[in-house]
Amino acid sequence: MREKVEKILKQLVNEDVRVERTQEEHGDYASNIAFLLAKTEKENPSDIAKKLKTKIKSDFFSKIEVKNGFLNFFLSEKALKEELSNILEEKEDYGKGVSGKRVVIDYSSPNIAKSFGVGHLRSTIIGQSIYNIYKFLGWETLGINHLGDWGTQYGKLLYQIKKENKDPRKLSIKELEELYVRFHKEAENDKKMEEGGREWFSKLEKGDKEARKIWEMCREKSLREFQKVYDDLEVEIDYVLGESFYEDKLKEVIEEAEKKKVAKKSRGALIIEFDDMPPAMALKSDGSTTYLTRDLAAAKYRLEEFSPDLLVYEIGADQTLHMKQLFSTVEKLGWSKKERFIHISHGMFRLKEGKFSTRKGRTVHLEEVLSLAKEKAEEIIES
Ligand code: ARG
Repeated sequence: MREKVEKILKQLVNEDVRVERTQEEHGDYASNIAFLLAKTEKENPSDIAKKLKTKIKSDFFSKIEVKNGFLNFFLSEKALKEELSNILEEKEDYGKGVSGKRVVIDYSSPNIAKSFGVGHLRSTIIGQSIYNIYKFLGWETLGINHLGDWGTQYGKLLYQIKKENKDPRKLSIKELEELYVRFHKEAENDKKMEEGGREWFSKLEKGDKEARKIWEMCREKSLREFQKVYDDLEVEIDYVLGESFYEDKLKEVIEEAEKKKVAKKSRGALIIEFDDMPPAMALKSDGSTTYLTRDLAAAKYRLEEFSPDLLVYEIGADQTLHMKQLFSTVEKLGWSKKERFIHISHGMFRLKEGKFSTRKGRTVHLEEVLSLAKEKAEEIIES
């Protein structure tokens, strides 16, 4: 309907006309076109608006008002009835678009060896909704599950599994999570443990058979668990391209960043500096890659592989800085303008004790949330 109003106005003026939804007492749509014309026409906006009003002859409106230079349009009953019959006819196709553009949407993205948390539930639901909306608007949509399946934390997990002499085949996700929590507790009093965790991650990176095998087991077990959640929610993500997928692409990214002087050495680490943000780390001083490096490789891969018009990341608001650093680095590297990337964030749930933290054992489990949600819904239905 907005487009129709704009079309009617456009026939009268030689401008890019836009109307906006407005408060109820001001009608259905309002236009500031008179203010734009006033810049060139040396007449005040109110007079211009009044003149325009007399020129509009359309049964699309029951009334047009001029207020403080704005044109306020009230849709007629005839216009509304016509639109209603369109809705009834087109049913769920009403409003469908034909954009033809392509969007890559990064969502859900839980971490292996940990349970599927509330944050990931939000990302899954909101991400899938964004996906569905773009699809409806005629975009070609590609969903990516950027599974957290790589990084130093898996070295720590391997270390703890070995330390406690556990049989990885028999460990549930819950037990894996507990192992990770214990690692952090014990590491507070034992500085050697961090080192041990790093060593195990380095083994994993170098393809050590045992490390790989345990990691693979954890990954498969997690994927099976996550699939249950996706089945329950009837969500199907097009691609699972976890962080480990980019392992063999990281070196190239780091070399490019150094060559283009986007990254520089600093106290043994490799960092990227920004004018308006704190620096980010591309390589830690022990040579291990970071979450950011893997995200850079993922961005490059998505740009090259899919040539998207837009890249959307549905991730919690606590990662806003990381996302800004990522988008800005992509631009510095000359891969793409940063405007092609957007972070759609969801807010964080907090417990009385503070933010959720797997490390500190402060998480709420998904099954609990879903069963509570069901209970609440039933209560509401009952009342
Ligand atoms: N696995 C990450 C986490 O749980 C989310 C990943 C989001 N996607 C991304 N491309 N960084 O925090």
